[in-house]
Amino acid sequence: MDYDTLVAALEGLLSGEPDFLANAANFAAFLYQELPEVNWAGFYFANAAGDLVLGPFNGRPACTRLPHGRGVCGAAAAERRTVVVDDVHAFADHIVCDSASASEIVVPLIADGRAYGVVDIDSPRAARFTAADRDGIERLVGAFERAVDARRAPVPI
Ligand code: SME
Repeated sequence: MDYDTLVAALEGLLSGEPDFLANAANFAAFLYQELPEVNWAGFYFANAAGDLVLGPFNGRPACTRLPHGRGVCGAAAAERRTVVVDDVHAFADHIVCDSASASEIVVPLIADGRAYGVVDIDSPRAARFTAADRDGIERLVGAFERAVDARRAPVPI
């Protein structure tokens, strides 16, 4: 993947639009359309209790709430680091939303040192997300974070 080109395209897509939800919706669609072998791409946002609530996404309808600290998403939010799972069936605390998913990457959204949400991407192919994909997807999430105001996230922090 040419992540330099994707980052530039994403910056163009998000520029000039201040609405958080509009940019989040377009970022989810962008990830789903531009990354090959992806069956789900979208957001969860942390509420006051730390549960993750479903946000804009592309793919099949998904779990609406992930309990605090649970699943791959909860681990990424709690540890404030990207989590890549090559085989979701081997990750004990994986939460199944779509049985077609075989591998997954979750990147936390950080503001003021707190994880206020995550970007989750699933693939039907095991070990879909390489070290280069992790680096590139973290850059894409970084471009999204620069383009939005975290205080406007759908779930107040
Ligand atoms: N598999 C995730 C749940 C979200 S869905 O993949 C869309 C997890 O274990 O946190």
